[in-house]
Amino acid sequence: MSKNKIEQGLSFDDILLVPQFSEILPSEADLSTQLTQNIRLNIPVVSSAMDTVTEDDLAIALAREGGIGVIHRNNPIDIQAKMVRAVKRSENIIIENPRSITPDSTIEELYEKMAEYRVSGFPVVDGEGKIKGIISKRDLWMIKDSAQKVSSVMTPRERLVTAPVGTTPDEAEKILYQNRIEKLPVVDSDDKLVGLMTSADIEKRKMFQQASKDSDGHLLVGGAIGAGTDTMDRAQALIDAQADALFVDAATGHTDRLVKLLAELTSTFPDVPVVAGNVVTAQGAEDLIKAGAAALKIGVGPGSICTTRVIAGVGVPQFTAVQNVSEVCRKKGIPCIADGGLRYSGDLVKALAGGADCVMLGSLLAGTEESPGAKVRAQGRFFKEYRGMGSIKAMKKGSSDRYGQKGQGKLVAEGVEGRVPYKGMLSDVVFQLMGGVQSGMGYVGAENLAALREKARFVQITSGGLKESHPHDIVITEEPTNYSVS
Ligand code: XMP
Repeated sequence: MSKNKIEQGLSFDDILLVPQFSEILPSEADLSTQLTQNIRLNIPVVSSAMDTVTEDDLAIALAREGGIGVIHRNNPIDIQAKMVRAVKRSENIIIENPRSITPDSTIEELYEKMAEYRVSGFPVVDGEGKIKGIISKRDLWMIKDSAQKVSSVMTPRERLVTAPVGTTPDEAEKILYQNRIEKLPVVDSDDKLVGLMTSADIEKRKMFQQASKDSDGHLLVGGAIGAGTDTMDRAQALIDAQADALFVDAATGHTDRLVKLLAELTSTFPDVPVVAGNVVTAQGAEDLIKAGAAALKIGVGPGSICTTRVIAGVGVPQFTAVQNVSEVCRKKGIPCIADGGLRYSGDLVKALAGGADCVMLGSLLAGTEESPGAKVRAQGRFFKEYRGMGSIKAMKKGSSDRYGQKGQGKLVAEGVEGRVPYKGMLSDVVFQLMGGVQSGMGYVGAENLAALREKARFVQITSGGLKESHPHDIVITEEPTNYSVS
């Protein structure tokens, strides 16, 4: 940007897409996109790495819909890594090296292990790894003596149905159905347990065909890291837990510290994509791409809970920021994510048409059942708590380095705490959002997101135009699920 000339910055509310000749039905529009050069998503939605938005439950629900969740970092490293693992383990083609129990374990030990891993049973395996049986909750109905051995209660090897290595999900489904069983141990030629296929996994595979998965059939998940002292340890733990991408979480990523950190991360972990940000200028994009970013997050201060623009007086209206950054990203072949400030599905369409490959959502997902925020009742309605990572409470829990501050002592808030209306299941919310995006693509005649970017023509509107865009001259008596006056 020129130093002397004041340029105009536009927000989503300042523009509209111009409809064009279309041969596309909204339902035909393809929503798949790139998160990084190597990671493809089936819908362009990434959830914010915030402690009232993304933990394992929301990340699982979003990946099942085709997007990806980024687990927040306002927790000790081991807890964040455990959440990443929970997402990776939630769906499998085959559970490799499944947890098992030995025949001489007691029923009491079995119960403890079931509770610890939140599973309903285990294959029973001896010291050499050979399968000896299987045991599940159903075998325990009549068992009163918790000192009894697993071997005396389990379904023994002679009655156990197993499958050889290489069994496909379709073959496994047949075997499970024909034998009316739920778990199928996979064994090698020495009868050693190498995997487990389950009816639950097969059902989930059929139910969530849109799910975004890695090559092993596990759901995709990202993990947030900061620019603080524990960054490399956190990154290592997230990678060990098989996070598909690391997301550097910083209010501004265009800093010497972050450029150096990015270089260190990409040289230490060359196989794991690092999504960096946030940036709002072409120069910011150039510098972070040069330092090794696999994708960029765009946005300084557009978020619904942000006060950065009023406290620090800094930011670029989000639509202009998306245009600034995405132009560079497009030239370099690096995807970018419009992060924050999206209030309606129409804003998603504008961000994607303006150049973003994905959108990152906080407030739009914070009200879902799966978000970690507490559900509260007020004035006869349900809400979920939602707070900025720059709010005092969130910073005290760990996110202060996001704003270059130290966690102890006095803090300068750049975010607020509040609540958003409870919205029910994430799948319903995402359905409405994606329906809106597809509708926009239909109006523009775009069969996919690349065509949307290519064809997009915008018109700048006035406050009169904005007023005309929302319902007017009516008292709304019934709000549709995808629109509310905020
Ligand atoms: P939405 O509008 O979706 O925005 O709620 C979520 C995004 O806002 C960023 N974020 C913050 N920005 N102060 C800020 O200036 C904060 O306290 C704060 N917390 C989150 C973040 O990029 C998120 O994805």
